[in-house]
Amino acid sequence: MEMRFLCLLLFAGSMAQEDMDRNVFLFPSKTVGDYVVLTPMVTEPLDKLTVCLRSYTDGGRYALLTVGTRESKIRNMFVILQDTSHSSPPQLYFYPAVYINNTQVSIPAKADVLEWNHYCVTWDSNTGVLQLWVNGKVSPRKVLKKGFSIDLRDGISLGRMRRYYGTDWDSTFAFEGEISDVHMWNEVLSPKTIRRVLLNDRDINGNVISWRSLNYTINGDVIVQPKLQCRYGSESGSSHSQCFIE
Ligand SMILES: *[C@@H]1O[C@H](CO)[C@@H](O)[C@H](O)[C@H]1NC(C)=O
Ligand SMILES: *[C@@H]1O[C@H](CO)[C@@H](O)[C@H](O)[C@H]1NC(C)=O
Repeated sequence: MEMRFLCLLLFAGSMAQEDMDRNVFLFPSKTVGDYVVLTPMVTEPLDKLTVCLRSYTDGGRYALLTVGTRESKIRNMFVILQDTSHSSPPQLYFYPAVYINNTQVSIPAKADVLEWNHYCVTWDSNTGVLQLWVNGKVSPRKVLKKGFSIDLRDGISLGRMRRYYGTDWDSTFAFEGEISDVHMWNEVLSPKTIRRVLLNDRDINGNVISWRSLNYTINGDVIVQPKLQCRYGSESGSSHSQCFIE
């Protein structure tokens, strides 16, 4: 009886659904056991999607968002990551990259350390057309994995990805830094809507994952902290809240 009560308490302590608008997940160290699992509101396989998020890092090699687990038959079904290992000095360029069905496309983007970077990825299985938006600029479109679909029942997590081969999580891509404003849709958003996502318009929320109504479970040493570099509504003199460096 007592044991059951304790389990309930532990369960309630690690799970929540909340408006995270003013918050970030802080991953204090590059540890493969530190990650956040997100529970989607839609579980049907996706043949179209848009995923947007912000990250704030020191410019290392980091997995941001992954669909799938270590047990998934398909490795790296969908992953957004950033990689500076091809860049010298590492702070000057990073390579945001997307995996679908364990196949990668990457795009060089200029980045500054000590700034939030905003990514959106759109993908349409009918054509395979993939767009990668970085801080409101879109890369030349790529084509990736036409005809594939992304099974959300395999789970969505922040801060980790699997090895290219084998089943283990890839410790070289464990995330360290801050992640915020994660949204996912089961459609391809228009450039105009992506602009509003970038500006953190409160009226634009993911219908698969919404940062403003987030069901998440923390594993390991990830903590929720207030956004430091953002001003909101009246403070910033506009109806948008926006992340930027003071
Ligand atoms: C996805 O990957 C699996 C395993 O490598 C492969 O059998 C399948 O054909 C791939 N699907 C597409 C649409 O590329
Ligand atoms: C959050 O997700 C869990 C599954 O991970 C589910 O059992 C729970 O009902 C969800 N909570 C809400 C409020 O949707």
